[in-house]
Amino acid sequence: MADVYAPLRANVGMMGQILGDTMREHLGEAFLDKVEQIRQLAKQSRRGDESAREQMLALLTALPDEELAPFAKAFNQFLNLANIAEQFHTISRNCDELVCVPDPVEQLLGRILGGKVDADAMLETLQTLDIDLVLTAHPTEISRRTLIQKYSAVVDCLQEMENPLLTEQEHKSVMLRLRQLIAQIWHTNEIRAERPTPVDEARWGLSTIETSLWQAIPDFLRQLNDKVEERTGVQLATDIAPVRFSSWMGGDRDGNPFVTAKVTAEVLDRNRHAAARLYLKDIVELVNELSMEQANAELMALNPGSREPYRDVLRGLRQKLRNTIDYLNARIEGHQPEVSRDSIIWEDADIREPLQLLYRSLCDCGMRLIANGLLLDILRRLACFGIHMLRLDIRQDAGRHCDVIAELTRYLGMGDYAHWEEHEKQAFLLRELANRRPLIPVSWQPSDEVAEVLKTCRLVASQPQQALGSYVISMASHPSDVLAVLLLLKESGCSYPIRVVPLFETLDDLNQAASCIQALLDIDWYRGYTKGMQEVMIGYSDSAKDAGVMAAAWAQYCAQEQLVKVCRKAGVKLNLFHGRGGTIGRGGGPAHQAILSQPPGSVDGRIRVTEQGEMIRFKFGLPKLAVQSLALYTSAVLEATLLPPPEPKQAWRECMQRLAEDSVLAYRGIVREEPQFVPYFRSATPEVELGKLPLGSRPAKRRVDGGIESLRAIPWIFAWSQNRLMLPAWLGAGEALKAAADRGDMPLLKEMERDWPFFNTRISMLEMVYSKAEPNLASYYEQCLVPSELHGLGKKLRQRLALGIEAVLELTGSDSLMAHTPWNRESVRLRNPYIDPLNFLQTELLARTRKEETPSAPVQLALMLTIAGVAAGMRNTG
Ligand code: PGA
Repeated sequence: MADVYAPLRANVGMMGQILGDTMREHLGEAFLDKVEQIRQLAKQSRRGDESAREQMLALLTALPDEELAPFAKAFNQFLNLANIAEQFHTISRNCDELVCVPDPVEQLLGRILGGKVDADAMLETLQTLDIDLVLTAHPTEISRRTLIQKYSAVVDCLQEMENPLLTEQEHKSVMLRLRQLIAQIWHTNEIRAERPTPVDEARWGLSTIETSLWQAIPDFLRQLNDKVEERTGVQLATDIAPVRFSSWMGGDRDGNPFVTAKVTAEVLDRNRHAAARLYLKDIVELVNELSMEQANAELMALNPGSREPYRDVLRGLRQKLRNTIDYLNARIEGHQPEVSRDSIIWEDADIREPLQLLYRSLCDCGMRLIANGLLLDILRRLACFGIHMLRLDIRQDAGRHCDVIAELTRYLGMGDYAHWEEHEKQAFLLRELANRRPLIPVSWQPSDEVAEVLKTCRLVASQPQQALGSYVISMASHPSDVLAVLLLLKESGCSYPIRVVPLFETLDDLNQAASCIQALLDIDWYRGYTKGMQEVMIGYSDSAKDAGVMAAAWAQYCAQEQLVKVCRKAGVKLNLFHGRGGTIGRGGGPAHQAILSQPPGSVDGRIRVTEQGEMIRFKFGLPKLAVQSLALYTSAVLEATLLPPPEPKQAWRECMQRLAEDSVLAYRGIVREEPQFVPYFRSATPEVELGKLPLGSRPAKRRVDGGIESLRAIPWIFAWSQNRLMLPAWLGAGEALKAAADRGDMPLLKEMERDWPFFNTRISMLEMVYSKAEPNLASYYEQCLVPSELHGLGKKLRQRLALGIEAVLELTGSDSLMAHTPWNRESVRLRNPYIDPLNFLQTELLARTRKEETPSAPVQLALMLTIAGVAAGMRNTG
């Protein structure tokens, strides 16, 4: 077979060479030789050569302090460059069919049209598709912003070099630029000096829009339009927006004390400011373009006799945008400027209406070609981003709302709300919701924590509805959790029905989700409030942390199925909001596959999904990548709506139920009941050290004093992926499969794997995790870091891993993992010789820093670099 990865490998090789040259220039030939020697030894050791391994370890332990950080950096940067080459490969002209998925929209249209679905039904669904991607500030992006920008510039160079028409001189100058960029990367510190603030995080979100999505959205819609028009003869509407964006950056205050009402207010202004800036740029360009004279009567009526009627309108708009920017600048600086209704942009229509007028006029006067250029792009951007750019969600913990009401009832002498039964709480809340007099007395001086929750509610009430998305309640369990927020918003003067969304994220809460929503929808007042649409958020990572991946996945599936039924019965549309992480342990996985494995009826033309951390970069960081990701989402939601997957057979359900029950027992038997487990986790992984890495603005724990239960899902997964055991992503699942096989259910499991997308996805995710796990490395961590009395537990865990792998291989009937996805396998294989030395060095550094009271700065830095490097190699943090 031809070497399909040759162009990719050539790029990796070329950049590796340049990185080597840079290191040589900086630290000399001897350093480079040592790096190379260790890499070669790592390769041999992978092939089972014990003496190579011993030699590598000896070299690593002998590294002098001043070489530790550069050494970790060398491998870390190599992995980053490999990531860039890989990312570029998927959008490169040289991309082959093994790596690049063929255009999913094209494929889907070809498959469905003329088959089961007619063009009208397809068009109707497409025009109303509502995919809302919610960018979160979750602290999983390990790369600094400044490096990410340089990585993008590297991609530009790779792209330029693909042009076969480059002259020798042009080629030389691209190479020079590439060398400069790699040198800049090498000489830049990878570790942030300080934690980002929530405002920093929100600005990063905006920069993804500015550098990529602003371009990608009109590009994607143009391509979509062409495909649809070619097949149906229908042009898509100018305001079609199948995919839109929301954000949690600066709005998610769950366990993050730094996100205050003041911060949220600033972020809202900054979002609007960024949008105004980008529209202004577009309008300035459009003023240049639309120099035409001929106009329809509607446009001419605005300025009779004008020789440049289009420009006249655009100049007015340009001025309003400039005024808007000034106004927002003043607000961001803390002033409260006065402006008149007509001088700035207040709502989407202020831009849309004049632009649509120009669009109609151009079309009426035979200039459709011109209308469908930049003008159409702007209209489409407007439909997607609006004037607020992103709809900001607010997220707060259910307990915080309960605290507010409890403090209030105590103040009012009504007793302690926190101790009331659920039915008492509901009765009280409903009574107060229906009551016209305010509940909160002016004289009340609440505690700081309570005051902050109320300030946020008042901020929500003061915003235009379009600026906000949903108000999400984390750790929601009962109807009162939702009603409490509604009451606080009412008391704050909120005059519009913001979506208040319970997030169900433990096994018990998922199991109770449908009855909770049913109870709410049974309340007439509440049903009226929903205006026919109920949003519910499903928490993937916390439920997996609570119950293990297999049981959590089944609970998520069942909860969704039941929610579909409950909402249908109540005549209310259900909008499911999936809180998925990037990695498999947090519910991540390929979006396309994930959507198509949802229960039938749960994706009814609409979906909300979180996009987090490094996943935002991987999927949307470059315009071409973003276009691909948008096409994947659109085709998957279209397909799941028009051709929903089959209902699972009763036998499959029963089997799955048993698997879930067995797996939760196996998982909790270790995580909760095994007394040695927590000490093992603390010593075998860099959990404690991770807390020092200034990744995101929020603390790693929900409560300062809490134990492992209050540790957030992200550091939990992150820690286990550093020592390569990847435990949370498989614990329980393999044991349950094995038990099923022992019961003689293997033929049934095989049938489920073949015919049931949900189950098939679970198994392929397991395969991916298993192939990334490295029991030998995990055992090295144990040997160096874990007290010997806990080694027995480590052995048991690795045995369970082996048993799970065996069960999955039997199920898939193959002798190696990921046999059907050779690209993923190849990618892991290519990286290992670079990740392994980082893991060995990390172990050494962990052992050292744990012994010393105040480890030296170079040692600490090197440790952080190994963490960043392993994360880059695994392509995720947690
Ligand atoms: P959360 O998210 O801790 O913010 O709920 C967890 C995750 O995304 O994995």
